[in-house]
Amino acid sequence: MKETITVEKPKGKLGVLLPGLGAVATTFIAGVTAIRKDIAKPIGSLTQMGTIRLGKRTEKRVPKIKEFVELADLNDLVFAGWDIFADDVYQAALNAGVLRKDLLDKVRSEIEQIKPMRAVFDQNYVKKLHGTHVKEARTKYDYAQMLIDDIQSFKASNNLNRMVMVWCASTEVYLKPDPVHGTIESFEKAMKDNHPAIAPSMIYAYASIASGIPFANGAPNLTVDIPALSDLAREKNVPIAGKDFKTGQTLMKTILAPGLKARMIGLEGWFSTNILGNRDGEVLDDPESFKTKEESKLSVLEYILQPEVYPDLYSNFYHKVRINYYPPRGDNKEGWDNIDIFGWLEYPMQIKVDFLCRDSILAAPIVLDLALFLDLAQRCDMRGIQEWLSFYFKSPMHAPNLYPEHDLFIQLMKLKNTLRHLKGEELITHLGLEYYD
Ligand SMILES: NC(=O)c1ccc[n+]([C@@H]2O[C@H](COP(=O)([O-])OP(=O)(O)OC[C@H]3O[C@@H](n4cnc5c(N)ncnc54)[C@H](O)[C@@H]3O)[C@@H](O)[C@H]2O)c1
Repeated sequence: MKETITVEKPKGKLGVLLPGLGAVATTFIAGVTAIRKDIAKPIGSLTQMGTIRLGKRTEKRVPKIKEFVELADLNDLVFAGWDIFADDVYQAALNAGVLRKDLLDKVRSEIEQIKPMRAVFDQNYVKKLHGTHVKEARTKYDYAQMLIDDIQSFKASNNLNRMVMVWCASTEVYLKPDPVHGTIESFEKAMKDNHPAIAPSMIYAYASIASGIPFANGAPNLTVDIPALSDLAREKNVPIAGKDFKTGQTLMKTILAPGLKARMIGLEGWFSTNILGNRDGEVLDDPESFKTKEESKLSVLEYILQPEVYPDLYSNFYHKVRINYYPPRGDNKEGWDNIDIFGWLEYPMQIKVDFLCRDSILAAPIVLDLALFLDLAQRCDMRGIQEWLSFYFKSPMHAPNLYPEHDLFIQLMKLKNTLRHLKGEELITHLGLEYYD
């Protein structure tokens, strides 16, 4: 057995702060509330349902993850959020149209008490939305201080000593890294100067990290993925993770592509199109917000298939991603993939995937797992980018000198080995020769 890292036990309540109380966040909150009342099951959540094998296969030690590592209990989660609309979580969940009214009515008394705080919002960064429930301040730095005050009041009124923040608000327009993102000093100065390279999501991330609170980014925005904020996270001993929850079509891509590569099957083209009709779809109908999403979705195949290592198989594939706003579908997206592949002697074949998925049903357990794992990471003194949480993201954050790991199965192995490492258990290599000695 190896050295064990001291893991402080979770004590008291864990505050979960959610910028954006839309489809994903309300599905998450209503879901956790229903699970606590034993009227639903946490399907899709690794922290709640997943197991972890320890030691040799012959030892038959396979505890649940939540029994193996010290995670906060679902009964100890307390929620708060910000939104540009004043609807409480019950009303917002009804508007989002993901969960059925009869389920929402069973948790109504709990979730309608959660009312959004006024948001930090600027329409220049989300063109399709007109916010009414927003803060007024002179500079972006002043906005950050207002968020920090909100966090402090939430903490005091719920008697919390631990919190996490998960960005569940709309996708912002595409921003390139800017020199003002380079250092903490230049970033703070840019906030005071109202520099356009500072998006609202960055102000939330700054407020979170400056308050010592772990931050995860569920959208493809740059947000925390800039040197100034990763440096601040290291300085303040805060774990961070991002970006863009891996659900729907990209989840399928990171399941299928490693399989094709494992069998050395070539790829000629991958055309992915989606129709969806929720507010996220409406925001993504704006080309500038779509560009942020497109960048996030496109990089996946390049990294998994490694064309530079396998030029005969992957150097020329054509990859196209489309998102079409189609209101009748609501949150029930349809994602079509047409995959042109080739096999032995370059004979062509095709795969068609038609995934009738529910985006927020796939995203809600990710929010839960990230909240619990980031809280665990902080209690284990882990800080800065948490690459072991790549499993949950379309564009995993990574150290500047590394390429991101996109393969879902490698990501899962990395996550579980990190948990084994934290508990001083042997890492699992899958070598297994010893069984045949
Ligand atoms: N649903 C998924 O499967 C999925 C997957 C990956 C990423 N995401 C991302 O997660 C985010 C949430 O998705 P959703 O389906 O819940 O969208 P949504 O539109 O239903 O919810 C987003 C909410 O954020 C609010 N908002 C916008 N700007 C804000 C700000 N500055 N401060 C506070 N609130 C703000 C909006 O009013 C809205 O209520 C989106 O960025 C989306 O791209 C979702």
